[in-house]
Amino acid sequence: MKYAHIVGWGSFRPDKILTNNDLSRMVDTSDEWIYTRTGIRERRIASEKETTATLAFEAAARALERADLHPSQVELIIVATSTPEYIFPSTACRVQDYLGATRAGAFDLSAACSGFVYGLSMASQAIQTESVRNAVVIGAETMSRVLDWQDRGTCILFGDGAGAVVLKGSSIPGGVMANTLRSDGSGGNLLSLPAVYHNPMPMLGPEYLHNGHKKNTVEMNGRQVFRFATQVIASSIEETIAKADLTIDDIALIVPHQANTRIIETAAKRLKIPAERFYMNVHAVGNTSAASIPIALCDAVHDGRLRPDDNVVFVGFGGGLTWASSVVKWNVTPPEVSLPRREWRRARYIAARGRSKLKKWRRKLIDRVAGSPTPHARMRDADRK
Ligand code: COA
Repeated sequence: MKYAHIVGWGSFRPDKILTNNDLSRMVDTSDEWIYTRTGIRERRIASEKETTATLAFEAAARALERADLHPSQVELIIVATSTPEYIFPSTACRVQDYLGATRAGAFDLSAACSGFVYGLSMASQAIQTESVRNAVVIGAETMSRVLDWQDRGTCILFGDGAGAVVLKGSSIPGGVMANTLRSDGSGGNLLSLPAVYHNPMPMLGPEYLHNGHKKNTVEMNGRQVFRFATQVIASSIEETIAKADLTIDDIALIVPHQANTRIIETAAKRLKIPAERFYMNVHAVGNTSAASIPIALCDAVHDGRLRPDDNVVFVGFGGGLTWASSVVKWNVTPPEVSLPRREWRRARYIAARGRSKLKKWRRKLIDRVAGSPTPHARMRDADRK
């Protein structure tokens, strides 16, 4: 029997901070309104140069350093995201390339804010069934690119960032012990993000737009989402800890999706536990969707909230509708990685980018020698016609 242990973790936030006061100069809102309704004070915003893939890479590189695992040993990369740059190539493939993880399978997972827990569940099962020996699970988002910055009902909530964990197979009991994944597509319209300009039948005219969506920005029914979230958090946690043969008293810490402090406080009441048992950092990062749980996990470890042998629960909820939770026994202490070794790892990522460029040049060269036009040349020729 293999157990899937979390042996590395890492997160990355863009430098740019957008405060509630900054937002009050953009839309009709205030720091007081946002803070009392959501618990958010500020969030991070990606720079023009940053993408979901670059944020994901930074988080994954930190997690691999912590796990002392060389990228060439990685066997599976899952990126949970709602904000990929491309439908394909997947963000996970871009991360694979940036890391130089030459032996890894890679795919994106779409389950909105529950995506990280879905990914953790998939990866842990792949390890438990010995299909892979290890996996990197990443949650990464650039939500700032898909917000309507004139809609005060949504733009105040979200932020950018990425978090990652490294899972590794071990015969030591523990690690990811139980998962529960759920969905309810009937509530899909309550929180949605159209993938592209959403006009399935252009010849029929704009009145045929799906659900009236005219743009690819987040749309939300805040009250209904609030109600849904407070209902599912407690029931999902109870179901998962029962599967792991535990009770709520056995749980040292719950790391929830960081959407809103009021949602968490309501869930804590339903579970009859103090809200302090939930880790919260939403004040500093906002709702980073799939990235929020691994970012919060990293902060919780940094703050000394997790000790060896603690049972920790992750719980996510969001668009789909989807919700999910996992129970993890936190019992593998990762080795300390020395600074020179970490620097050496960084140099390897630069080498990985170099190798990736070389491969691209080689493909171009083969195209030239074979006489077949490159996609760029084909487009240029088509334009000329
Ligand atoms: N600043 C100031 N006023 C705002 C505002 C803002 N940013 N956003 C909405 N308002 C106004 C509304 O226009 C409304 O005004 P009205 O009474 O004059 O019509 C009033 O505040 C109340 O709006 P309502 O939408 O009922 O507020 P709410 O108490 O439900 O709070 C949310 C709104 C979004 C904070 C809350 O519904 C929520 O947190 N929902 C969950 C959202 C979430 O977490 N989504 C992600 C899940 S993964």
